[in-house]
This record gives sequence, C-alpha cells and structure tokens, in this order.
Amino acid sequence: MSPRLTGGAAVVLPESAMRDILEVIRSRHSSRVPFDAKRRILDQDLQLILEAARWAPTAHNMQNFEILVVDDEAILAAIGAIQAPPSQTFLRENYDQLSFSEDELRQRKTGLLASMFPAPWRVPKARPEDVLDAERSPGGSMQTCPMLLIVLYDARRRAPASEGDVLGMISLGCVMQNLWLMAEALGVSVQILSALSGAPAEDHIRRILGLPAPMKIAFACRLGYPTAAPGSYLRVRRDIGDFAHHNRYGRRAFG
Ligand SMILES: Cc1cc2nc3c(=O)[nH]c(=O)nc-3n(C[C@H](O)[C@H](O)[C@H](O)COP(=O)(O)O)c2cc1C
Repeated sequence: MSPRLTGGAAVVLPESAMRDILEVIRSRHSSRVPFDAKRRILDQDLQLILEAARWAPTAHNMQNFEILVVDDEAILAAIGAIQAPPSQTFLRENYDQLSFSEDELRQRKTGLLASMFPAPWRVPKARPEDVLDAERSPGGSMQTCPMLLIVLYDARRRAPASEGDVLGMISLGCVMQNLWLMAEALGVSVQILSALSGAPAEDHIRRILGLPAPMKIAFACRLGYPTAAPGSYLRVRRDIGDFAHHNRYGRRAFG
C-alpha cells in the first residue's frame, strides 16, 4: 500500500527539481562566497525549500523543529554586526580540519582546503589568537546574503528513549539535508554558519529574534546567489571501501 501525503498546498515541482537524485546529492556544496544581498530568494523557491524540510524524517515523527526565515535587511545587518568571538577551542578544532594544499587534502580525504577561509586561516601552524582576529564577527557574512534560515528545536521535547536526544539531533540533520538538497536543485546557494548556533553568538541572536527560552538554535544557514561565478575548489570524500564493511566489521568488500 502506498502512503498518502496530507496537508499543505499542492506544490508544483519545477523541472530543475527533477534532476537525478545522486547528481543533486553530489553537487550540493557549501558556498562560502559573498551572496548578492539584493537578489531575493523567490517566494516559490522558499516554499519548496520549506516543503522539503517539512517532509524530513524525524524520530517518532515528532517534527521537532521550527524554522525562522529572516530576510529583513535591518535584522540581517544586526546579526551581521554581532561581535562575539568564538572560543579558542572552537577555532583550534576547526583549524585542525584544514589542509594547506590540494595534495594534502587528497591524501587525507577528509576536511577542507584552508584556501577557502579568510587569510589568517590559510597559514600552516597559525596561532589561535591570529585566527581569532579574523573571527570576531561570526555573523559577518550575513551582510552579503538576502536570507538566513534559523532552524530551532525545543530542547524539552526529547525523542522517546533517546539518551542525550541523539535521535532528535539526527532528525534535525535530516531537516538540514532535505532543505539543502532542495536549495541545490533550485540553484540556491547555502552555507551553514555554526558560529551562530552556539555561545556566545546565540545569546545575541536570541535577543535580536525574540526567541523564547526553551527554543534552541539547531543550525543557521544563509541562502542566496553568489555575486560572482565562484571558482572551483577541491571537495574530497573517503572511498566507499574506507567506510563500508560487509557482514563483519573490518571485512572490506565494497568500493
Ligand atoms: C552540522 C554542520 C555544521 C557545519 N558548519 C559549517 C560552518 O560553520 N561553516 C561552513 O562554512 N560550513 C559548515 N558546514 C559545512 C561543512 O564544512 C561541509 O558540508 C563539508 O566541508 C563538506 O563540504 P561540502 O558541503 O561542500 O560538500 C557544516 C556542515 C554541517 C553538516
């Protein structure tokens, strides 16, 4: 028996959303370039992105999320102006994932190229305090985007039998993936901004957006269209054989 979908307005999928699913999954990427602040996200595209989030799988179908769409210029500017440097631990742990050449990244197969980050990050063995100077304003890129999505969850509504609400967190990840894939299919660029979802920036955002106490920020992402054609950069993944096992842990048979 095939399930029926209920509720919500009928959504007509544009042709771009019909691209092969693996092609959309592979081409989805993080866009760390400035977005054209004047080029709005089309209403129908936003509707489809929210629709994709709406149908995300969640533990016990608890739908443990709400989404705050921010496209008011003054509010985006206020978030962009937040001065709240992240901790040295945050910086150090992020910095540890960087490779300083394409060869190094190809060999590691995980992490990111340092060249995609602000100048202080591109220096091998940089001191955290130097990097900190570049990161005083975690919302800085906000000034160059027309829309921010803040995905919220209510920490009191834990998924049943889930220690640390890990199932709830996985559910929020499904929401992220659904909306990101839909944005990719529509040609809308996305960047997750983790610095906005944790202390100390979160406190400023709570105040600016009037978030009620139990609501927490699961993740924030900016949406938009790059101001210039972004240059290509190397993205790596492990081979399937590096993470897939067959029947018994350690038995590599795929990839
Ligand atoms: C939970 C989560 C948090 C992330 N936080 C950030 C972030 O703060 N800034 C950023 O530029 N990218 C962030 N990313 C994007 C990852 O760095 C990116 O997905 C990964 O490097 C793979 O690159 P790709 O998205 O281009 O495939 C985050 C992704 C996830 C899933």
